[in-house]
Amino acid sequence: MKRFNFFSVTTIDEACGLLSSYGPDAAALAGGTDLLIEFRRPGAKVPKVLVDISRVNELGGISESDGHISIKPLTSHTQLLRSALLQKFAPLLNSAASSIGSPQVRNRGTVGGNIMNAAACADTVPPLIALGATVTLQSKTGSREMSLAELFVKPYQTRANLGELLTAVRFKKLPPDTRSAFIKLGRRNALAISRLSVAAILQTGKDGKIADARIVPGAAFPTWKRVTAAENMLIGEKPTPKLFAAAGQKVSEEMIKETGRRWSTEYKEPVIAVLVRRALEQCLLAQSEQSPSFNPVAMEAGGKGKSPSGSQSLTLNSFSGQECAISTTINGRSRTLTVPANCTLMDLLRDILGLPGTKCGCEVGECGACTVLLDGEAVNSCLVLAPQIHGRRVTTVEGLTLNGKLHPLQESFMDHDAAHCGFCTPGMLMSAKSLLDSNPHPAEREIRTAISGNLCRCTGYQQIVEAIENTSVPGRALRQSGK
Ligand SMILES: Cc1cc2nc3c(=O)[nH]c(=O)nc-3n(C[C@H](O)[C@H](O)[C@H](O)COP(=O)(O)OP(=O)(O)OC[C@H]3O[C@@H](n4cnc5c(N)ncnc54)[C@H](O)[C@@H]3O)c2cc1C
Ligand code: FES
Ligand code: FES
Repeated sequence: MKRFNFFSVTTIDEACGLLSSYGPDAAALAGGTDLLIEFRRPGAKVPKVLVDISRVNELGGISESDGHISIKPLTSHTQLLRSALLQKFAPLLNSAASSIGSPQVRNRGTVGGNIMNAAACADTVPPLIALGATVTLQSKTGSREMSLAELFVKPYQTRANLGELLTAVRFKKLPPDTRSAFIKLGRRNALAISRLSVAAILQTGKDGKIADARIVPGAAFPTWKRVTAAENMLIGEKPTPKLFAAAGQKVSEEMIKETGRRWSTEYKEPVIAVLVRRALEQCLLAQSEQSPSFNPVAMEAGGKGKSPSGSQSLTLNSFSGQECAISTTINGRSRTLTVPANCTLMDLLRDILGLPGTKCGCEVGECGACTVLLDGEAVNSCLVLAPQIHGRRVTTVEGLTLNGKLHPLQESFMDHDAAHCGFCTPGMLMSAKSLLDSNPHPAEREIRTAISGNLCRCTGYQQIVEAIENTSVPGRALRQSGK
C-alpha cells in the first residue's frame, strides 16, 4: 500500500477542518472495507492524507425523535441488523444489513461508507430510498440536507463537495400498518454482492386496498430511484398475485427503457420482475424477511466512535503522521508501538510482532484467514489499519491458549478432525470464539452464519460446525451432534 499521512480525529470539526484544508488530497476513513481494498488495486489513486473518523463519538448511533429515525454514519451493519428500533420501524433495513458481506465485514463496514462509496450494489441504499431518507452533509462552513436519492450522480459519484462529511441519515418511521421487505440476489448466501435487489414497502387500508406502495430496485437502474410507474399500478387496488406479477413486469420494462438492452438484459429482465413480485408478496406476510441471525438488542446509542467496553481506559486524543505512536493491548499484554500508517493490522501482527498464527489469504476481506478479535468482535485484520487499534484490545489465535493449555475450541477442533491443512483454522477459531463469547448456546444455523466469512477448501465445513457445536465451555450443556 502506498504511503499516506494518517490523521485520527475525535470531533466532526477536526475532520471537516482537515478535509477542507487538504481538499482533493484527503479522504475520510470509516470502516475501511471499501477504501483499503481500493488502495490495493494496481494503479489506484491513494490520497496523501487519510482522515480516520472512526473515533468520532458524535457520528455513531441510532435514535428516534419527532416520528423520525436518525442513523449516524458510523453505525455498523451489525448494529443496523441488531437494532430493535429498526426492526420495529424500518425492518427492511435490518434485512438489508444482514445480507451484507460476512460477520467480519458487517462488524467494520458502516452505513455512511456504504452510502458515500455509492457502488451500484450498495445494499443499504434501496431500503433507505424507499424509506424517503434524507442525508446531512457537513463542512467547515456549514451543513445542508438533501434527499438520499438526490445525492447520487452515478455509480461511485455523489453530489458531496470536497470537504463535506456525511453526518446523519434520517427518515420517517413506517406507520404500524405498513409492511416492508428487502430481497437480494447474489451468487451465494454470504460474501456476495447484489446482482439485483429490491426494497419494497406496502401500506394497506382498512378496505384491504393498497394505500401506499414504494419499490426501489438495486443494481438495476443507473442510479437508485422509486419506480413510480409500477407503484401507481398498485395504489387503490386489492393485492393479488396477478397484480404483483404485473408490477414486477412494469419494473422490468422501465429498467430496459432506461438502460437499453445490454449483455445482462437477458438475465435481468425476467429476474427483476420475479424479485419485485416476491418482495411485494413478502410485504403481505406479518413479518418482513428477517436476518437468520437476527437478534435485536438494545444497542442504539453509540457507534464506532463509542469507547468500546473492555478497551484500555485511554484518552483517545487525535494523532497523525506517516508513522503513528499507538498504545494497544494484544493478547492481554499492553504495548506501546510506533507503526507505519499504511501497515495493516495483519502485517503488524505477522511481520512486526512475530505472531504468524493470523494467516494472510486474499487481503480483500473474502477468505477470513486473517480474522482476529478487535474489542471482542471478529474483524478481517487485512482491512484494519494498524493505527486504528490505538486504545483497543486485539486477540489473535495465539491469545487463545492460557498458561500453555489449549482453548476448549482448539481441543474440540482436534477431537472432531476439524482441521486438515489448517490454513483456515486460526480464522475459524476466532470467528467461533467471538460467537461463543456472546452466545454460548448457538443453533447450527447461527454457527454457520458466524463462520460464513471464513472459507475452508478442505473440510466441507461439517466437522468445523460440529466442533463448535460440541465445544465444552464452562457452564454449557453439550448438544448431540449426530457424530
Ligand atoms: C468482502 C466484502 C464483502 C462486501 N459485501 C458487501 C455487500 O454484500 N453489500 C454491500 O452493500 N457492500 C458490501 N461490501 C462493501 C462495504 O463493506 C460496504 O460498502 C461498507 O458499508 C463500507 O463502509 P466502510 O465504513 O467500510 O467505508 P470506508 O471504506 O471507510 O469508506 C468508503 C467511502 O466512503 C467515504 N466515507 C465513509 N464515511 C464517510 C462519511 N461519514 N462522510 C463522507 N464520506 C465518507 C470514504 O471516504 C470512502 O470513499 C463488501 C466489502 C467487502 C470487503
Ligand atoms: S480476509 Fe483477510 S486475508 Fe483474506
Ligand atoms: S482445513 Fe484446509 S482450508 Fe480449512
